[in-house]
Amino acid sequence: MSRRPAVIAHRGASGYLPEHTFAAKAMAHAMGADFLEQDVIGTRDGELIVFHDLHLDQLTDVGQRFPGRSRSDGLHYCIDFTLTELRSLRVTERRRKGTDTARFPGRFPVNTGSFRIHTLAEELEFIRGLNRSTGRTAGVYTEIKDPGWHARHAFPLGDRVVETLADFGYRSADDGFFVQCFDPVELLRVRGKFGSAVPLIQLLDDGAPLTPEALSAVATCAQGLGPPLGMVWPDTGLVARARGLGLLVHPYTFRVDELPAGCASPSELLDALFGSLQVDGVFADFPDVVVQHLAAGA
Ligand code: G3P
Ligand code: CA
Repeated sequence: MSRRPAVIAHRGASGYLPEHTFAAKAMAHAMGADFLEQDVIGTRDGELIVFHDLHLDQLTDVGQRFPGRSRSDGLHYCIDFTLTELRSLRVTERRRKGTDTARFPGRFPVNTGSFRIHTLAEELEFIRGLNRSTGRTAGVYTEIKDPGWHARHAFPLGDRVVETLADFGYRSADDGFFVQCFDPVELLRVRGKFGSAVPLIQLLDDGAPLTPEALSAVATCAQGLGPPLGMVWPDTGLVARARGLGLLVHPYTFRVDELPAGCASPSELLDALFGSLQVDGVFADFPDVVVQHLAAGA
């Protein structure tokens, strides 16, 4: 892999096409992203799909296709549907919760197109194909989504994700991949079960600053941190602290249409991330903007 900071296509080139669709992944690959991200959720029949939300309502037509299949909260959960049922849904650009309006108004129009849900294995096969046909290798960056919730549904999500990645040759950092998760208990469990070769990233939620003890604990298990942008910019000292412990830092999420409060322009943010802060990579809905920024500064 390249030694420049890593451009991680967040749910694909999701600033331009509906997230986690093959179209969004192909576009991100063509834009030169170093890694393509997968969020992974389990289905009722034990399959793994590439999908961000536990429920289907903001990203598909599930309410029209399967009336009466919601839970008491009114939501339709992926894990209550078989893969065949999930494949029958139309995927849309993300809508705001409970509405038919776009989460990001300037992006691909909602309720438009013929996009479908696919499995993790299908995505890994797709990326392998793109790597071969283009002659340029993009890595994969796979998130175990809410493993505690899946465990309560008797679904061993983390094991299934790591095993599927291994089936496709992703076994150590040299194979060009990361496994990410917000749940530190799950990362420790994965480390214990699958060994030190699997490169792990501890995702962080917005919230209280990390204590030195907590950050040291992360460094005993993971190779890096995935903090929200607001935890590193303006400079909080977290990047330097993480680097002092040998941790990579890959903040999320760079969006030209949703900059952090107080940031005047995309280039101001990228200058800070790769200049004074020296992060090791960034998750981006607009990977092309980051690729071009890095190329211009090379
Ligand atoms: O995985 C990095 C970032 O994607 C974490 O947030 O909610 O977009 O999965 P989310
Ligand atoms: Ca993610």
